[in-house]
Amino acid sequence: MADYTKPDVWALRAQKEGYPARSVYKLKEIDEKFYLLKSSALFGKSPQVKVLDLGAAPGSWSLYILRNTALSLTAVDLSLLSRQFDKGLFDDKERFFFIQADVTDRGTKALIKERGPFALVLSDAAPMTTGNRSIDTARSLALAETALEYATDVLVRGGRFVVKVFQSGDSGELLKKIKAVFDTGVSFKPKSCRRGSFETYFIGIKKK
Ligand SMILES: C[S@@+](CC[C@H](N)C(=O)[O-])C[C@H]1O[C@@H](n2cnc3c(N)ncnc32)[C@H](O)[C@@H]1O
Repeated sequence: MADYTKPDVWALRAQKEGYPARSVYKLKEIDEKFYLLKSSALFGKSPQVKVLDLGAAPGSWSLYILRNTALSLTAVDLSLLSRQFDKGLFDDKERFFFIQADVTDRGTKALIKERGPFALVLSDAAPMTTGNRSIDTARSLALAETALEYATDVLVRGGRFVVKVFQSGDSGELLKKIKAVFDTGVSFKPKSCRRGSFETYFIGIKKK
């Protein structure tokens, strides 16, 4: 079982480096392995290039992008972002827009669509866990399916996609759908995921 009570090496590092959550290191590993933000011309350091961060609170992934690129970012979450470490970056209206909303609401979809198209869609959205694995994995899968709908609708051709999913017998179907939308679809579990956690990330590279 994962132990969520003690701060581990990643949580301590996040505090030290000024991120509100340890999850930033999952994105960093994915970024470094799959060249999300660095490699192609599409991901050049231009504020014209847009990123969507679904399930963004408390805001570590958003901060990572704002700190390490010049890209524009739209972030969405049910909860507000933590303002502890952002040093005004979340106030930069040229580059950052936050929507406090449910990503599954139709109104949210319309609002997000207006802000696109995006070169990169990220979803670290996760349901409140109940401890019942089949309920938790079903809710996580439903959120991941929603994220894939966004990726399908609002990503540019050649765009990339990262989505968290709690692994279950049904998550393979989602990976198949990702492979149908992208040239490449892979599963990757960053080493900064908590030991014993059943989360993983699916990555879609180059939207067809
Ligand atoms: C693991 S946290 C994300 C951490 C974030 N990537 C970071 O680095 O700070 C998962 C987030 O998903 C959000 N979430 C879950 N269901 C959602 C929904 N239907 N709409 C919007 N956000 C949702 C939760 O509120 C929570 O903040």
